[in-house]
Amino acid sequence: MAKLATGRVQKKSSHLLDSFNSSLPFDKKLYLEDIKGSIAHATMLNHQKIISDDDFKLILDGLKKVKEEIESKKFDFDISDEDIHMAIEKRLTELIGDAGKRLHTARSRNDQVALDFRLYVQRNNLKIMSLIKELELVILDIANRHTDTMLPGFTHLQHAQPINFAYHMLAYMSMFKRDYERFEDSYKRNNLSPLGCAALAGTPYPIDRDFSAKLLGFEKPTINCLDTVSDRDFALEILFNIATLMMHISRLSEELILWSSSEFGFVELSDEFSTSSSIMPQKKNPDVPELLRGKTGRVYGNLISLLTVLKGLPLAYNKDMQEDKEGVFDSVENAKLSLEILTQTLKTMSIKKDRMQEACMVGHLSATDLADYLVNKCGIPFRDAYKITGELVAGCEKKGIDLSQIHFDELKSVDDRIDEDVLEHLDLKNSMNARDSFGGTATKRAKEQIEIFKGWLDEL
Ligand code: ARG
Repeated sequence: MAKLATGRVQKKSSHLLDSFNSSLPFDKKLYLEDIKGSIAHATMLNHQKIISDDDFKLILDGLKKVKEEIESKKFDFDISDEDIHMAIEKRLTELIGDAGKRLHTARSRNDQVALDFRLYVQRNNLKIMSLIKELELVILDIANRHTDTMLPGFTHLQHAQPINFAYHMLAYMSMFKRDYERFEDSYKRNNLSPLGCAALAGTPYPIDRDFSAKLLGFEKPTINCLDTVSDRDFALEILFNIATLMMHISRLSEELILWSSSEFGFVELSDEFSTSSSIMPQKKNPDVPELLRGKTGRVYGNLISLLTVLKGLPLAYNKDMQEDKEGVFDSVENAKLSLEILTQTLKTMSIKKDRMQEACMVGHLSATDLADYLVNKCGIPFRDAYKITGELVAGCEKKGIDLSQIHFDELKSVDDRIDEDVLEHLDLKNSMNARDSFGGTATKRAKEQIEIFKGWLDEL
């Protein structure tokens, strides 16, 4: 059957134009949203007596048939149909005749595509939120088991102060909580229906936008039609939210890669989520976190692409906007896959408590505690205490021991006010538990943080 719209342009389009112009190869992904939108539109048209009951019934049956054809792979996707909206409408008209031609009354492809794409983004906001929740549950479970597992905390990738592994994982818990809230926030802000905005100016038909908005699960209709058909902020938001989520995933991945190296040996990824080398039989490679880190680049690219496409566009719809979809599809698919595989990787990895503990014996992690002791016990000004401690550390380095192993006599010779209790301050576990300010690493504070996050997750 011939192309649907044969208005001002009369001659058959060139094949080159068809393939350049068509979004069908990628927007066919929106077929469910398109059918859902058409059902809501037809229901509203019928409710407002703009189309008859008979036509309405034919449209519903026809759309159901189209859906079946697509799902059973019988639907003929023809590139000259330009996009999924035209393809479905053409097939509907082939199936039901004139009633099919009435469906587009009081609607334009501009509000139609804005609706379909928004429905897709909203559905995926919710899906990503539920995947983040799954990830958070696994992180919480790891944290629960490791509130007393000590490892060095780093700054500049140098050993700094002892912390516990729960506390370290709860830092990621915090990041993913913010991510969750960003998707939730975007979902709420964009929960408005574009349907009924028509080409750019609204429509003279007596439509009811509130009615169709409710049918589609939106809170209400958008306010200004000119903005609505030009607006892709909802798509930019999901791209930004994914970019930030992937940046967090990438930072965790980087740590997993480091931790599973023989230099660290803090974790071992399960065989199920590791790969081997084609030539070196001894190798176990962290391909999963490496790919997660790598994929972060492309989702940044998708965000920048769409920002750039939109920046110079006059109102309202311009065909440039057809370039909005592929990047969003790509980011959404990669974010969902990344969340799923990260969750499984964390769930199945083994945590090497002893190696973490051993690593704490390198780097004089309780040096700050000694300086604090000299301040509090001996009244030495902090800068002097810092210098004295530094010299003691240098002495330990020469002897090849950690500051926590220093002999009491040596400390006593520095200042006579130093008591035996200094050794407790140098003990690494005590050093960790001394950091008990709100939000700190002390085991009791880590447990408190777990309760806070658990409370948040329970409410979702
Ligand atoms: N395929 C188009 C897109 O994805 C649909 C909207 C077309 N509207 C138009 N006036 N040409 O943006």
